[in-house]
Amino acid sequence: IDLELIRNFSIVAHIDHGKSTLADRLIQMTGTVAERDMKAQMLDSMDIERERGITIKANSVRIEYPAKDGKRYILNLIDTPGHVDFAYEVSRSMRAVEGSLLVVDASQGVEAQTLANVYHALDAGHEIVPVLNKIDLPAAEPERVKQQIEDVIGLDASDAVMISAKSGIGIPEVLEAIVTRLPAPKGDRNAPLKAMLVDSWYDSYLGVVVMIRVIDGVVRKGDRIKMMQTNAVYGVDKLAVLKPQMVDIAELGPGEIGIWTGSIKQVRDTRVGDTITSEKKGCETPLPGFKPAQPVVFCGLFPVDANDFDDLRDAIEKLQLNDASFSSEMETSAALGFGFRCGFLGLLHLEVIRDRLEREYDLDLITTAPSVVFHLHMKDGEVRDLHNPADMPDLTLIDHIDEPRIKATILVPDEYLGDVLKLCQDRRGIQMDLSYAGPRAMVVYDLPLAEVVFDFYDRLKSVSKGYASFDYVISEYREDHLVKMSILVNDEPVDALSMMVHRDRADMRGRAMVEKLKDLIPRHMFKIPIQAAIGGRVIARETLSAMRKDVTAKCYGGDASRKKKLLEKQKAGKKRMRQFGKVEIPQEAFISALKMD
Ligand code: GTP
Repeated sequence: IDLELIRNFSIVAHIDHGKSTLADRLIQMTGTVAERDMKAQMLDSMDIERERGITIKANSVRIEYPAKDGKRYILNLIDTPGHVDFAYEVSRSMRAVEGSLLVVDASQGVEAQTLANVYHALDAGHEIVPVLNKIDLPAAEPERVKQQIEDVIGLDASDAVMISAKSGIGIPEVLEAIVTRLPAPKGDRNAPLKAMLVDSWYDSYLGVVVMIRVIDGVVRKGDRIKMMQTNAVYGVDKLAVLKPQMVDIAELGPGEIGIWTGSIKQVRDTRVGDTITSEKKGCETPLPGFKPAQPVVFCGLFPVDANDFDDLRDAIEKLQLNDASFSSEMETSAALGFGFRCGFLGLLHLEVIRDRLEREYDLDLITTAPSVVFHLHMKDGEVRDLHNPADMPDLTLIDHIDEPRIKATILVPDEYLGDVLKLCQDRRGIQMDLSYAGPRAMVVYDLPLAEVVFDFYDRLKSVSKGYASFDYVISEYREDHLVKMSILVNDEPVDALSMMVHRDRADMRGRAMVEKLKDLIPRHMFKIPIQAAIGGRVIARETLSAMRKDVTAKCYGGDASRKKKLLEKQKAGKKRMRQFGKVEIPQEAFISALKMD
């Protein structure tokens, strides 16, 4: 195919600004999918994505478009994940295309995620076409939003395309803009094969499917090709393009995007950003900028019922077939028994995996406090990664501890700014910048990731009545005064509740935790002390008093059906409790105790 007739692009947008709806429209209007096959939101294939309205797995579609100039173009859309946790995948897939449509909801304006993603696009050297969506809404203010795009992002928005992805207004103009305003790809057909691995996923019929963008050279069915990072060699068994269903193709040349399969067993063997070349006479230098996905948030996952351990292991293995960025290692906890320590790209990633384990595999899980990776600088000069507070070595061996910091960008209407600043300050934040984008403030904070992983996002949404938007990048590791806080219930340490905290905040956190636990743990027939301690020193203490017999008698007496109901409730509740020595702790306690108010 003539390079001049190809356009590769992605769509960048904040969640809910209409990315999927626009993609659907583009597919529909070019007849790529027959009308009767058109499912709303074709590109979001997983249920969870649909339910939560987020796009997790990158996907792509090849569209054929007869333009006004009389030529037939091939447009390749790469769908990028929209969430901060997948920033690396976003930045890689952006490098596989030459341009972006910047979709902004004309009734909402620019959001934190719009900014984060548009910066990825600018970094990748994209030509960007601003698109204002939802102009059908009475609340749409296209002129104001255009001005905002110019002020905040510094992009010329005078030629922004005005559309309503929902009703179809402006879609032909978007297609023309893609052809006339985005550049064609460059590449040398006669050079050795050089292609970028953009994405991969596990398909139960085909095994691992790899999506690539060819930079130079040609790949054909039957070729032997090599992954430059792992040096693994595979045969190309199937070569296809996504329309969005797979359509076999004989070859892919420069500028083209497609998929191949070749008896690859695990998604793990295919690293996003890797360079693919021919086994023989391959290219010499790989594409720059490759880095393996690094889990940054860890937590323990334990089955509520110890008999479910094998099922949990199988489920984790199955999920990993499709998600190489999530790691797991067997872990034993004195309190929780056998389980796994799992690593995730971020909090949302953690939630998505946990949800899938519970829903798709019908498992009841206990999730321990999420923790970040601390760097322990030992006195002997060794640097250790600490993934689990329970593994904290003897304090006297440690010289100092570094923790990951993030640079967070928050956009918030002025009236909530005070509360947002207070929240950031409470979380050990350092204000870096404060500016205005129209009526909204944009604050940049340097924050410890550890303070953000519990419930920062929930708190931010609640103090701003849902109006604040938030995005972050990990900036650096920095030393701080961190200590391990243990929680003792009935004088027994509950390792799953131990956590790393800042020394100055330990007393407050300790007090809050024991108070919360006192409410969360049901009364028993005996008194239960609940304590927080640093090393051997108790910093907070509460006592859960014993249950009084006459109260229960009253409660269970009388009406038989009420009694039965109560017993049933109790049984269901039991299922989600764990025994710690003589004490039963409900599952919610493990997460709720960590939330700060
Ligand atoms: P994520 O997949 O979560 O990133 O969201 P998205 O950006 O793909 O947004 P999506 O296409 O799912 O649209 C979000 C909501 O806005 C849906 O309820 C759409 O029906 C609605 N929507 C999209 N385009 C328009 C439009 O032009 N006008 C109106 N009124 N609503 C729209």
